[in-house]
Amino acid sequence: MSIEQSYAGKTVLVTGGAGFIGSHLTDRLVALGARVRVLDDLSDGRADNLAGSMAAIEFREGSITDPEALDAVMPGCDMVFHLGANASVPRSSERPDYDFNANMAGTFQVLEAVRRHRAGRLLFASSAAVYGEPQTESGQMGEDHPLVPKSPYGGTKLAGEFMIDAYTRCYDLDHRRVRIFNTFGPRQRKYVMFDLLEKLRRDPTRLEVIGTGDQQRDYNYVEDTATALLVVGAHPAARGRVYNIAGGRPVSIRALVDHIIELTGIPRPDIRYTMESWPGDVVRMVADTTRIGRELDYQPRVGLEAGIRHLIDWHREQFSPPW
Ligand SMILES: NC(=O)c1ccc[n+]([C@@H]2O[C@H](COP(=O)([O-])OP(=O)(O)OC[C@H]3O[C@@H](n4cnc5c(N)ncnc54)[C@H](O)[C@@H]3O)[C@@H](O)[C@H]2O)c1
Repeated sequence: MSIEQSYAGKTVLVTGGAGFIGSHLTDRLVALGARVRVLDDLSDGRADNLAGSMAAIEFREGSITDPEALDAVMPGCDMVFHLGANASVPRSSERPDYDFNANMAGTFQVLEAVRRHRAGRLLFASSAAVYGEPQTESGQMGEDHPLVPKSPYGGTKLAGEFMIDAYTRCYDLDHRRVRIFNTFGPRQRKYVMFDLLEKLRRDPTRLEVIGTGDQQRDYNYVEDTATALLVVGAHPAARGRVYNIAGGRPVSIRALVDHIIELTGIPRPDIRYTMESWPGDVVRMVADTTRIGRELDYQPRVGLEAGIRHLIDWHREQFSPPW
């Protein structure tokens, strides 16, 4: 069955649907003919991320930690994409209590609501942060890599995964988990790429970059991540499985900075690396994506360079930089 057929006419809840990835996923689900409900407390998300879909969806402002809010959106759901969370590693190291509430207590309440209302299927957005630093010679992390999170964020995502596993054994939950590596694109108003563009908007002649520039990341464009979520959500073989989602083209932050400068078209600024990062930062985060390719026939389509172009176009539209 194609992805289109899997979602048409289905009732789908997206927690965190007003966020960066959640809003792109919501747009895609609406286009595929699903009846979409979004639950988001707008702590990080924005209603205007959903501008293109708002008229077609049922949007509820509320928290996943609140059983009543979940009771309002869960009945009759065929599928739940659970993305609502604190998604920031630096914030999790400053405010672990926030992660504990949103990511652990929130995921527990989502599981309880799925159980109460016998919702059909759950996809949990976990993170590459559950792996910690790579422990393989190649530096790549497959789904069987040891789970040694370095940040409270990674710890809460792993706790969510374990809880979902336990619910599956105890209550025969139909679940899938994805470990998302770095995703980027329009509507993302935080993290490295956005910060770089914002700094260059304020002063295109100089650029301070956090860290050494040697950190490696495996960026996936947001449309490709949304496609991966739809594929994992729909594919019968994905039941009970966990999949890495990444671009499959690792890049150092130094190379990324060069790409961004080149694609903005500005003269090369004076670049300074701070040589220090935030607590919990992982130096090399590179995925082995063999499993999702082999089992579900998923490959990213947009890629890094075209994705950065889309991001810069969006940035120009939103923030009118001088370039
Ligand atoms: N962006 C990435 O590179 C990346 C990487 C790994 C994992 N993830 C995971 O993917 C998911 C989406 O990430 P994102 O980048 O779109 O982040 P985001 O911050 O843009 O989206 C998260 C959304 O969850 C909402 N939210 C937070 N706490 C909530 C609560 N208690 N109740 C209801 N809604 C709440 C926020 O308002 C926001 O809209 C998250 O679970 C995140 O941990 C993202």
